[in-house]
Amino acid sequence: MGLNLKTVIGKTTFKNPVLVASGTFGHAKEFEKIIDLKKLGGIVTKTITLKPRLGNPPPRIVETPAGMLNAIGLQNPGVEKFIEEKLPYLKKIGIPIIVSVMGYSVEEFIEVVKRLEQESGVDGYELNLSCPNVGYGVRPLWITDSYPQGSDPKMFAHDSTLIETVVSAVRKVTTRTLIAKLGPDVSDIGAMALAAERAGADGISLINTFIAMVVDVKTKKPVLGNKTGGLSGPCVRPIAVRLVWEVYKKVKIPILGIGGIMKAHDALEFFIAGASVIQVGTANFMNPRASIEILDGLKSFMRTEKISNLKNIVGSLKT
Ligand SMILES: Cc1cc2nc3c(=O)[nH]c(=O)nc-3n(C[C@H](O)[C@H](O)[C@H](O)COP(=O)(O)O)c2cc1C
Repeated sequence: MGLNLKTVIGKTTFKNPVLVASGTFGHAKEFEKIIDLKKLGGIVTKTITLKPRLGNPPPRIVETPAGMLNAIGLQNPGVEKFIEEKLPYLKKIGIPIIVSVMGYSVEEFIEVVKRLEQESGVDGYELNLSCPNVGYGVRPLWITDSYPQGSDPKMFAHDSTLIETVVSAVRKVTTRTLIAKLGPDVSDIGAMALAAERAGADGISLINTFIAMVVDVKTKKPVLGNKTGGLSGPCVRPIAVRLVWEVYKKVKIPILGIGGIMKAHDALEFFIAGASVIQVGTANFMNPRASIEILDGLKSFMRTEKISNLKNIVGSLKT
């Protein structure tokens, strides 16, 4: 049976809906001997910032029941070195490349995107509005120029006004596919997604990690050097599925579902809840072939169930 797995988001056509999530797949070369990269639906790069970042002090990773906590702190070479050293390899793969971008202000987001606009081989941008590991709550640079002076610093994804401000500003400088990556630690995810849609986003990625902490009971200190980190893996999946479903009910633009997807079965939960494509994250660390196995499993499910078009599964939740 011929299967149609194609999904269009913005200007990008993904030949299948299995992407790899930012920060969990290096810059792809690391996986070239393990999987056929061309088989992936697309790659979301590690988040790139304007200037290089060394990341947070170690320890940066700790295992948790059914998951992990990371506080890498957006270690990356900065946009210039990314263009020079990583992009040439990525664009040769021949699948959609979505560059994950973060700035400490609206202006910085724009600067990074404007620089990438000068390069070919970038299909779109995923705005990382929700990294939990970079000075959250302490560094005033999180505040945009337009944000009221004296307010507490905020993560962009925690405030619908900030989401709307940054997405609409970036929308003005690119016609490429623009995706807003939201965080899960909010009380009304629908309002955040609507703000991104209003501002011109072509898609919503969710979820990023949950802000969390593991304590060493002997030293009474947090285990991670950064004190808190981002929780990911199978433990977050049911919450992620619920958040995707809530957003699906609110917005018309496609959703890129992320959170603890280890197997095809997990990916199907996200499609049924309303995701048009999915991203594989933590699973890449446990099984570097996970993305391809998920794609194969999805195809065999569709054949067994006689579903020829992925679109017939998306948002098919019965309530
Ligand atoms: C080690 C690690 C590094 C990550 N780095 C980034 C990053 O640079 N940018 C980003 O948007 N998300 C980053 N994430 C979040 C993932 O892309 C994903 O949203 C999250 O882990 C939930 O999916 P999962 O449970 O499948 O891992 C990172 C996650 C992990 C585990």
